[in-house]
Amino acid sequence: MKKTSVSDLHVHGFRIQPESRGRLLRQTPAILWFTGLSAAGKSAIADKVEALLHASGQLTYILDGDSIRLGLCKDLGFADADRHENVRRVAEIAKLMADAGLVVLVCLISPFRRDRELARSTAGRHRFAEIHVHASLAVAEARDPKGLYRLARTGAIQHFTGIDSPYEQPTVPDVFIDTCSKSIDEGADLVVKWLNSR
Ligand SMILES: Nc1ncnc2c1ncn2[C@@H]1O[C@H](COP(=O)(O)OP(=O)(O)OP(=O)(O)O)[C@@H](O)[C@H]1O
Ligand SMILES: [Mg+2]
Repeated sequence: MKKTSVSDLHVHGFRIQPESRGRLLRQTPAILWFTGLSAAGKSAIADKVEALLHASGQLTYILDGDSIRLGLCKDLGFADADRHENVRRVAEIAKLMADAGLVVLVCLISPFRRDRELARSTAGRHRFAEIHVHASLAVAEARDPKGLYRLARTGAIQHFTGIDSPYEQPTVPDVFIDTCSKSIDEGADLVVKWLNSR
């Protein structure tokens, strides 16, 4: 007997579409994708952006790398193939949440360009910003709020981005935040400005 395949699936045409939910919530969904080295400041800036959006009456949700890896992606490690799958799953969830009407903030190192491109194409018609939260390796390593760079340098953990795993810089991000010269508040303002201009 033939196994069921993707080509046998039929997507049901439900009558309530993302636009209807957006109207109900009085907001336009979006996906704000924060990428950058560990300790660059993705979570710190997303936290501030979410607080600003929340205060202005927008329904938001943060998909943060560490929380995702404790649940949805707890079966994945840090080898390249697992990192691809991690980003793919989060991109799909972000798309579903945007379909539900939310402004979704994703904080993931997401070191590979092709994975971030996949996230953008998965977003489909939703507004999507690739936000490069930049810190030099030296600054990120000096911050080291989780002590992970120290462990990576001693070899206690492997495949650590910036140390023994690559980070491919975005070439044309929608928003660039240099956290060596901009404060958390200034970085958050740049993101909110981008959102308001779209
Ligand atoms: N200008 C700045 N912008 C952002 N964070 C800053 C800045 N200056 C200092 N920090 C501090 O740097 C640290 C950044 O940590 P954060 O957890 O936000 O990084 P992250 O990019 O989310 O890393 P990870 O990928 O490991 O989750 C925080 O402790 C934050 O307070
Ligand atoms: Mg973080």
